[in-house]
Amino acid sequence: MRSLINITDLTVEEIYDLIDTAGDIIDNPEKYAEKCRGKKLATLFFEPSTRTRLSFEAAMMELGGNVIGFSDADNSSASKGESMADTARVISCYADIMAIRHPKEGAPLVAAKNATVPVINAGDGGHSHPTQTLTDLLTIAREKGRLNDLTVGFCGDLKYGRTVHSLIEALSRYTGIRIVLVSPEELRVPGYVMKGIIMENGMECKETADLESVLPELDVLYMTRIQRERFADRDEYERLKDSYVLTAEKLDTAKADLAILHPLPRVNEISVKVDNDPRACYFKQAMYGKYIRMALILKLLAEREGENEARRTCGDELVNVIKCPNPRCITSVEQELDQVFRPVNVENHIYRCLYCESKAKHE
Ligand code: CP
Repeated sequence: MRSLINITDLTVEEIYDLIDTAGDIIDNPEKYAEKCRGKKLATLFFEPSTRTRLSFEAAMMELGGNVIGFSDADNSSASKGESMADTARVISCYADIMAIRHPKEGAPLVAAKNATVPVINAGDGGHSHPTQTLTDLLTIAREKGRLNDLTVGFCGDLKYGRTVHSLIEALSRYTGIRIVLVSPEELRVPGYVMKGIIMENGMECKETADLESVLPELDVLYMTRIQRERFADRDEYERLKDSYVLTAEKLDTAKADLAILHPLPRVNEISVKVDNDPRACYFKQAMYGKYIRMALILKLLAEREGENEARRTCGDELVNVIKCPNPRCITSVEQELDQVFRPVNVENHIYRCLYCESKAKHE
């Protein structure tokens, strides 16, 4: 059965199909109003959310389906110690599809391995947020008319920003993409993004701390919030929180057809005066999020009914041989889970955690 855990679970062709379906839903909403009649979506949100949860719920309702779920882990039996695996098994008895947001990286994959219905990762820690990436790709496709031959700037918290990591990974599969990374030294993209995605795929890339110097080059500017909740050191957050503030004046040097995206929520990093600039796309982007999630729900439910497609597995996994070094990995709290690692570079004994994708060495 098919779930969506990482953006690379979808092929480039499948993403184009989802974008086309979302476009058709925007143009012909009445055609889709009964498509999920009798179906239920469960939204399991162990972390706060406005856009992702409510757009998933609105998406299912606009398809004629129903929604169950919780928006606070304290209101679920996770607060009594129930495991992710058991939660997923139980929710499969009540719903046809589920969307999960969880602070632990890999938690949605644990759910997918135990559920009997499709699971959608609605954001796991600092790891991945594939439906935001689909939203971003739909926004870029509609605003720029293409997903290739673009200079895309990412600005702000590139270390903890899971939407940044997922979007860079998604863009690595299109041609003519140039990446410009704008962040303070402390918030540069992690090594697995720089080496594992950007360098591995030979993407053209520039890093700088100075937004204004690169603004004129950009076709797309992806602003991000400095993520207070991911900082262990509050003083460091206070020092970095206002590193970048996009103002109307700064945009004077930008291209006339720049598209400014932001996954939202915004704190301080885009002045409200920018909101009326025709280049500001972030509220449209939030609206597109509902349409792409409608397209995704339709696809996963249709596949489940049609074929129960088997998920890819890899024969040379290491099970309970390496312990995941990432303290934010779901395996750090759910001790009963198998520690599963897949080979990255067998010659150099490098493996990657199945759940959070952290690398580890095993001689
Ligand atoms: N962009 C996004 O994930 O927003 P929420 O945290 O409000 O869902």
